Amino acid sequence: MAAISLSVMAVSCTKAGPEPFTVVPQPNEVVLSEGAFRLAPAFTVKEDVPEKAKEAIAAFQARIAEATGKNAVEGPAVTFSYDPSLSSEQYVLDVDGSGVRVSASAYNGYLYAMQTIRQMLPAEIYAQGKVSKPLLLQYVHINDAPRFAYRGMHADPCRHFFDVNEVKRYLDIMAVYKLNTFHWHLTDDQGWRIEIKKYPRLTEVGAWRNGTMIAKDWGSNDGIRYGGFYTQDQLREIVAYAANLGITVIPEVDLPGHMVAALAAYPELGCTGGPYEVWQRWGVARDILCAGNPKVYEFLEDVFTEVMDIFPSEYIYIGGDECFTNDPKRPDPWEVCPKCQAKMRELGIRPHDGFSKKQLLQAHVTAHMQKFLSDHGRKMAGWDEILDGDLMPGATILSWRGPQGGVKAASKGFDAIMCPVDYCYFDFYQSDKLDLEPLCIGGNLPIEKVYSHDPVKGVPADKQKHIIGVQANLWTEYISTVEHLEYMLLPRLSALSEVQWCQPSNKDYDRFKATLDHQAAIYDVMGYNYSKDFWGLYGLEFKPAE
Ligand code: ACM
Ligand code: ZN
Repeated sequence: MAAISLSVMAVSCTKAGPEPFTVVPQPNEVVLSEGAFRLAPAFTVKEDVPEKAKEAIAAFQARIAEATGKNAVEGPAVTFSYDPSLSSEQYVLDVDGSGVRVSASAYNGYLYAMQTIRQMLPAEIYAQGKVSKPLLLQYVHINDAPRFAYRGMHADPCRHFFDVNEVKRYLDIMAVYKLNTFHWHLTDDQGWRIEIKKYPRLTEVGAWRNGTMIAKDWGSNDGIRYGGFYTQDQLREIVAYAANLGITVIPEVDLPGHMVAALAAYPELGCTGGPYEVWQRWGVARDILCAGNPKVYEFLEDVFTEVMDIFPSEYIYIGGDECFTNDPKRPDPWEVCPKCQAKMRELGIRPHDGFSKKQLLQAHVTAHMQKFLSDHGRKMAGWDEILDGDLMPGATILSWRGPQGGVKAASKGFDAIMCPVDYCYFDFYQSDKLDLEPLCIGGNLPIEKVYSHDPVKGVPADKQKHIIGVQANLWTEYISTVEHLEYMLLPRLSALSEVQWCQPSNKDYDRFKATLDHQAAIYDVMGYNYSKDFWGLYGLEFKPAE
């Protein structure tokens, strides 16, 4: 009894201070000063704050009310104003003895101010219910805006499927780090995941495979039927959910390679007519869409018409990666298909500038899609292979095979997003304790290396404006559970966010490392799994190294 009352006394007598300032990504300009303001759900929102922001502010006020056990009222603790001189993702946040003042000019700016406030509070603010500590905010002046306009994270539900709630969790944690773009790779050889009403077999047939390669052994297979897809209603639900978090969803329909699932559904779209089976193994498949068949172009236009109807994003991804096996022992289908050969002749394709005839035929397919998307008011983007041919102005590329694609694209005046394999492939191992790590595709990408990425390295100074952003990719060949998915994502996502957000002068790995305990506390209260190798524990079992 005595011990209990003593500890109660100790708590009630402790004059708790504010949390250490560990906001990630580190805001651009931060001036901390002595003192802390106790947050209360007494908010004033100026009339000219955009309506959508008012809704998000009301939700935040409700959370502060719940966390403090007080009623949400109009009052002076927190004031939100509109300042049209700020850019769309910028916000200014001041905390002093008179309260909290936020100004921004657009939805994302308000969201980011509230996200910064959340990160300054005890991690429990990310849970539900009352927060056990007082909500103290250290006095600060922050003027913040991102370095890159495009801050993306990619997901691959094709190799392994993740349901709507799992996708929402992925988006929730992206929002914590102020990412604004979700690149959703919705089709691949191993599964077609997007309902297309005009082509029902894409999901009736293409969304299911009869087994899955399970080990790093081409002959292995579990023999279990596997699959799933998102209905158009579910896709719209995700688009709306992401929009509330300030995140644009950009869909990818990968073409003309990575199409075996579609070929299994509609074999007439392939060079040989099949039969084809939804692929059960990993790697680069030989069978691709036939570029000499007019039906293929009609199919693609129909599919992208439905895609554009579901996804309002300015950009649409058309993939374009790994179209050819380039096996010296066996030609790729386009090299022997009479229809593709006739198409090459019709187009007068001749190898030039080191591009082969098949690469130039791919460029024709890419150009067709680019024109179609552009005619419908959208911009086309694709993996860096689309540079390996005559690429039309206005395309944007994802530089994945290294930075060189992005450097080349920017130098030629194309916009580029950097996601080079060495720094941005979150399907790689995080630690070097491979015997303790869950099986993955290979490679090694520790958090420190993610942090060290310089996305404009090698890009001439006058071309750096073409590097519009950075993203990480998380392919799921060996990732079949959400626990493993989140383990691969976290905490590396926090390091990525500083690459995307912070000016180079604000990046500091020692300062960042000191935030990781707080990031982990956020994951704990939000129920995310994450890698603990930073804390000396390895693998999904979190074992210490021997
Ligand atoms: C890719 O990793 N194939 C873009
Ligand atoms: Zn063909």
